[in-house]
Amino acid sequence: MKTNRKVLLIGGAGYIGSVMTGYLLDRGWHVRCFDQLIYENQVCVSFYWGHPHYDFIYGDLTVPLQLDVALEGVDDVVILAGLVGDPITKKYPESSQAINFDGILQVIRSLNGRGLNRVIFISTCSNYGLIDSDTTADETFELNPLSLYAKAKVAVEQELLSLQGQVDFHATILRFATAFGLSPRMRFDLTVNEFTREMFLGRELLIYDAETWRPYCHVQDFSRVVDQVLVAPEDQVSFEVFNAGGECNNFNKQAIVDEVLGLFPNAPVKYKEKGSDPRNYKVNFSKIRNTLGFEPKYTVSDGIVELISALQQNVFSRVEEQRNFYHNYEIKNS
Ligand SMILES: NC(=O)c1ccc[n+]([C@@H]2O[C@H](COP(=O)([O-])OP(=O)(O)OC[C@H]3O[C@@H](n4cnc5c(N)ncnc54)[C@H](O)[C@@H]3O)[C@@H](O)[C@H]2O)c1
Repeated sequence: MKTNRKVLLIGGAGYIGSVMTGYLLDRGWHVRCFDQLIYENQVCVSFYWGHPHYDFIYGDLTVPLQLDVALEGVDDVVILAGLVGDPITKKYPESSQAINFDGILQVIRSLNGRGLNRVIFISTCSNYGLIDSDTTADETFELNPLSLYAKAKVAVEQELLSLQGQVDFHATILRFATAFGLSPRMRFDLTVNEFTREMFLGRELLIYDAETWRPYCHVQDFSRVVDQVLVAPEDQVSFEVFNAGGECNNFNKQAIVDEVLGLFPNAPVKYKEKGSDPRNYKVNFSKIRNTLGFEPKYTVSDGIVELISALQQNVFSRVEEQRNFYHNYEIKNS
């Protein structure tokens, strides 16, 4: 694909964004990343430095002047940035409000009148919260955000959808499943990645609420779905909400553990009930499949095999020393 369109990835140096950057560059897009590098994740930027269609702007999305610089000359915007996950938003409730809620709303309000084409807001299937295991949530299912993280996502979704007819861009909301897969900014605080690494290392893994379900999706598949939304006919995606993932990757924790046990049968695992995270949701992905023809290419077991091969080759030997790079635990200058 040849295009002169320049996509701004706000939060493009994170776990998902740094894979998406490479995918979109390979697809012929011009990519600008705007990121504050709050996990000392500079390497995710230097990785692409020098690519003729890549540029990086360091900055904070809550600072309007810095955002203005980042928006200069771009055609499309993908909003990925924020404090991501329940633990980090719980640990930093004020920053979380300032970034995930006030900051992102301010970003969205400032996008009008710039002649932008597409705006994609990356939301989460966590918005469904806690539902019966025999039900699957489609996009019309009642939202029940349980954490500060998901509450901010729901509030931003509502604000963005309310702008239909009042702004000059086409907005799309993608509710991402939980991510897995290799990335330049690898995260080992995400279920599939964490379980695989712990079991590979032979450490005792404590699983809370093994029967709770969630959908998962590989970071490469997320990159592909964003590319598809950027090029889809506008009447298919404009002011639409899509669950992003596939039913084949609706897994409960036990099934993930069993996949890894198939490879490391002696890995020690213990189970407990009533952990601090009650989320349980199976998700229906028929809308994205029927509208965009999107199906994940990678299964959870593909992700496990891929990660084990990297672990075996010593790619992740410094996870303990670089805890804040590999996990969303602590933010720079906090
Ligand atoms: N990882 C998942 O499993 C998952 C699941 C569903 C949805 N999502 C969504 O996908 C998006 C990306 O998630 P991720 O896993 O890549 O997260 P991440 O934490 O790896 O990346 C977030 C990026 O945002 C940047 N950032 C944070 N605050 C900023 C600010 N004020 N200004 C500029 N940049 C800032 C960080 O430096 C980081 O590079 C998020 O919106 C998240 O809610 C992720």
